[in-house]
Amino acid sequence: MSDAKIADRQPEILKLMPGTYWWCACGHSKSQPFCDGSHDGTGFEPVRFEIKVSRNVALCLCKRTGNPPFCDGTHSDL
Ligand code: FES
Repeated sequence: MSDAKIADRQPEILKLMPGTYWWCACGHSKSQPFCDGSHDGTGFEPVRFEIKVSRNVALCLCKRTGNPPFCDGTHSDL
């Protein structure tokens, strides 16, 4: 399995409402930072996460974070 595609070198800052979300791990989704099914055949699977209370989040787009789906600053070293 090759590395995930880098969708961007900065996180996506979003205010998310409570609910369940699927973060794109492969980098190929056209609906970044969320999965749109484009991972099919890549060997990657999306990461399910839940938001309990409405809040701002920084979701990783470089796909190299050590804390998926959240940005951990790794994009700064790419
Ligand atoms: Fe990337 Fe689903 S489209 S994990």
